[in-house]
Formats: sequence, C-alpha cells, structure tokens
Amino acid sequence: MKNSATVEKKVDRIVQTIEQIPTLPIISEHIQTLLKDDDVSVKQLEEIIEKDPPLAAKLLKLVNSSFYGLLNKISSIEHALVILGFKEVRNVVLGFSIQRHFTPSTGAFDPKRFWKHSIICSQVAKYLGKHFNAMDDGTFFLSGLIHDIGKLVIEQYFQDEFGEIIDYIEKNNATFSQAEKEILGVTHYQIGAKLLQQWHFPKKVTMQIFYHHAPWHDKNYSTGSIIVYLSNILTKMTGYACLESEQKMGPEDILNTSVHDFIIKNGFELEKESFEALLTGIHEFIAAEQNNVLKLFD
Ligand SMILES: [Fe+2]
Ligand SMILES: [Fe+2]
Repeated sequence: MKNSATVEKKVDRIVQTIEQIPTLPIISEHIQTLLKDDDVSVKQLEEIIEKDPPLAAKLLKLVNSSFYGLLNKISSIEHALVILGFKEVRNVVLGFSIQRHFTPSTGAFDPKRFWKHSIICSQVAKYLGKHFNAMDDGTFFLSGLIHDIGKLVIEQYFQDEFGEIIDYIEKNNATFSQAEKEILGVTHYQIGAKLLQQWHFPKKVTMQIFYHHAPWHDKNYSTGSIIVYLSNILTKMTGYACLESEQKMGPEDILNTSVHDFIIKNGFELEKESFEALLTGIHEFIAAEQNNVLKLFD
C-alpha cells in the first residue's frame, strides 16, 4: 500500500469504526463499575461473579490449576478471592468478559486456536512473572489473555481485509503485523490498545498490549511489556501460534539478537542455558494443564 492518502483514509475509517464499538454488553453494568470505580468492594465483586455461573466456574478452574499449587480444591468464590486477591480476580473477570464478547466467525480463523494461544499466553505470562520475580498486580494474566484482541476487532469489523491479511501471511510467509501494515495501514496491537483505552481498561494493560511486539519502545512499563512479549513468543515456540500457517519460531529467533541483549540489559536472567531451561519448564507446565486451564475456551 504505497499511496499515503489512501492509507490515511483507511486508517480514518478504522479509527471511526473502533470508536463506534460498543462497550462490553455482557454484564456490562458490572464491568463498567469494575473499570471506573477503585472503591469496588470484595463483596460486590463476589456478587458479580456469583450471579454469573459460567464465569464463576471458569474462575474456580483457574484457581485450582497447578499454577497455584494448592493442596485442597477451592470451591467458593469467596475463597478464590482470598487466594488470588481482588485485583487479579477483577482482571480475570475483565479478561473472560472480553473472550465472550469476541468470538471469531469467519472461516479464515479458528476461534479455538486463537483462544488457546491466548489462554496459554496468559498462563505463560504469569509463569514468567513468578520466574523472574516481577511484581504482578494481575495485569500479566489479563494482558496475556487479550494481547491479540486487535486481531478479533479486524476479524469482526473488517472481514474482507482480514481475509486478505490471512492470504498475505500465507503467501509471503509474513507476520500478522507485516500483513496488517500492508493491507490496513495499522496493526492489531495499535487497534487493540485503542479499543482498550476507549473502554477505560487499566493503563498498564493497554500499554502492555500496545508494546507486545516491541517492548523496547515502552518507556514506562517495560518489565510488563517484556513479560507479555516473551510470553507471546514462548507460546509460539511451544507450538501454539494463532494461525497454523504462521511462521514457526525457535530459540534461535531470539538468542543472540539485539532483542535478547535488550531483555538481558533490563535485568532478565535469560542467557542461552537459562532460556532453554525456561522453555522446558513451560513445556512441562503446558502439558500439566492440558486438560484443565488450557481447555477453558474449548
Ligand atoms: Fe500480537
Ligand atoms: Fe499473540
């Protein structure tokens, strides 16, 4: 797409369309409360979840995953709130509401594959947070889960272009971002961040999503952006890309690159051996959760 006037027109149309996307309709009143009001009480959050049995079931599945390593099964929302904490539960509720809102419909995209990539990425992000001792205020799960939400916006609101993007990826062995720039003039991370900003999502989450392909540009929340960046890459390396035909990735795509240097400079212990050990750990973690959390959206 060479003509800059045409690109500008397309981008304008995209921005206008995004501005017209309504807020999350499902339990939207509650979601709005969760997003706008910092004074929401634990009791209120508990009530919101209890009124929504499928949401409650997902939350309990999550808290009972091997990740938390609990000896006894948690069966009440009240207890889950104690274990996960208010912020984490709030972010889980937001993430699951987004998942319900966007269900890919065209044949070009396999929704199960998309959400498997997303749920694995959310778990890997949490895993990395723990592994690297990074302060996690519940944003890693949410950012990991919805990092590619912009792709669903394109899929749902720009179906023709979405088909062209998939074709472009397959014919040119390109990445999503390369194809999106070529066909739309904007990328899924720009679109996703714009939508979340419009929905008043926590700024940290919006920024982590905006920078999930280029954390080196993020001057404020780079630890979180690096975590989401790495979890996306590691998820792909374990064989769970969004699209089957997407470029395969391996450790060689990151080791000894300038990105690798940047990550290490930011305090992440990620030399070759540590990276390989981390990847093995993630493979084992995914295998352990295969029939549990990873099936949440099947
Ligand atoms: Fe992405
Ligand atoms: Fe992704």
